[in-house]
Amino acid sequence: MKGKFIQAITSAIAVATTLGVVTVHGQSQAKNQRIESFIPKTKDHRFVSFVPKGHAAPEGPARLVARPIIDRQAVTGFDNLTNGFARQGPDFDKINEDNVQPTRSFNDGRFVFEEVERQEDGVGPTYNAQSCRECHQSVVTGSSSQIAEHRTGHTDNGIFYESMGGSLIQSRATYPEIVEHVIDTDETRTFRLSTNTLGNGFVECVADATLTAIRDGQPPDMQGEAPEVPVLEGDGSPRVGRFGWKCQHGSLLSFAADAYLNEMGITSPLMPDENTSSGEYVGYGTEYDPVPEPENDGEDVEGFALFMRSTKAPPRGEITVDAIRGSTVFKNIGCAICHVDTLVTAEQGTLINAGAFIVPAALANQVIHPYSDFLLHDIGSGDGIPISPLPQYADTANKIRTAPLWGLRVRNRLMHDGLTFTKLEAIQRHGGQAATVTAAFNLLTDTEKNFLYAFLDSL
Ligand code: HEC
Ligand code: HEC
Repeated sequence: MKGKFIQAITSAIAVATTLGVVTVHGQSQAKNQRIESFIPKTKDHRFVSFVPKGHAAPEGPARLVARPIIDRQAVTGFDNLTNGFARQGPDFDKINEDNVQPTRSFNDGRFVFEEVERQEDGVGPTYNAQSCRECHQSVVTGSSSQIAEHRTGHTDNGIFYESMGGSLIQSRATYPEIVEHVIDTDETRTFRLSTNTLGNGFVECVADATLTAIRDGQPPDMQGEAPEVPVLEGDGSPRVGRFGWKCQHGSLLSFAADAYLNEMGITSPLMPDENTSSGEYVGYGTEYDPVPEPENDGEDVEGFALFMRSTKAPPRGEITVDAIRGSTVFKNIGCAICHVDTLVTAEQGTLINAGAFIVPAALANQVIHPYSDFLLHDIGSGDGIPISPLPQYADTANKIRTAPLWGLRVRNRLMHDGLTFTKLEAIQRHGGQAATVTAAFNLLTDTEKNFLYAFLDSL
């Protein structure tokens, strides 16, 4: 936001527990190194070894079945209206960069999510876009789009090494000489499509225990992985990741800080270190970056999180008789083992996000239908790039999160790389842990397949 950097200079907020290294929208800030543990950055930027405090907390009991009366169907809609967590706020059209208060309301949060930032606001030196909306917009602000990110690195003896500037290749820069370029030897390469964030406030409020219970109930050869990832704003303990193609974050605030840095080049207290250009420092103090860290005082990041937490879940399209029949086919042949249809959020007051967030009334006891287990699976489509180069994540290289199918009908490029264009091709790309289910699909009659497609078209 305009003017914010002045405030940022004076406030110089330092979050002592920032786990500055594992950034995953994103990339690891320790370029091209293998790091043995999470390393938080202290106020004076000394590195101290960090051992996560134990494991992710269960965050209450597993919730997969809706209880009558107590649990409610989560609100859905592509309508720019709050789910009730933040208030709707002032008229959206009356909010501007001078009167916006990012954490005041849904409309304020939406404003900063849509706001186009410039170099003097901290954009760059390397970046992918100038506003969150550029990539999260179809059909309303917050949802998905066809914009793909570019990730590269190389793999030696099964170990992944990020490209010199991190695995995320920023596609734009504020000066021609610092645009990142891929080198020939970085042969592990992929695109990753922009995912949906609508309804993710509900997903955030699903207890870790719910995700691990799904995992534990899956047949051994189809069992997913619930990776534990650091919560940047948390108390040092990790949480089960669920956001992004790799489940690389468990909290929306962490993801927002990561995205502000890695998509837009704007640093904030949770992500205080500027991106490099292929490993070369181009931040404040060089001719490429006029704005000192943190470029945003963290208020925008809080605003993004408030907005996303307040969004309604993607709504269903028309549910025809064929679509209802198709949902039975979907269950019968095993698609729903991974694309889980129903999850219930935790009770009001549950402490989640490594102690940093308390499940509020508006997001508690909500029944959602994301058609995902939010777990990582190897279905043979993996991109070879792990959550981060830390050794404990090595086995995530060829796993991808079960794509949530809510809102599928508004996407026409499918799978993480967006290189699949039809439902049939998407299904046929499911090998590995999904091979038996794909085989069952191939045995369906044409009529059954058409029911299944009708169901997918209603999501
Ligand atoms: C250049 C495009 C681009 C911009 C700009 C962008 N994103 Fe994203 N976003 C993506 C992509 C691509 C992914 C999937 C990344 C991955 O998993 O590797 C993603 C994923 C996410 C997710 C995870 C959703 C889920 O469940 O998968 C959140 C949350 C998110 N972005 C928030 C933001 C916020 C907040 C901003 C603005 C600060 C932002 N994004 C800006 C492209 C973008
Ligand atoms: C073993 C778990 C598993 C099973 C079983 C499974 N899927 Fe998937 N599905 C995934 C994963 C993981 C992805 C993401 C893969 C990627 O992007 O590379 C995915 C992606 C998809 C996509 C693309 C969605 C998008 O937005 O890009 C569709 C469509 C889909 N699955 C439908 C199905 C159908 C239909 C079935 C049953 C015939 C099925 N899946 C069975 C795990 C599974």
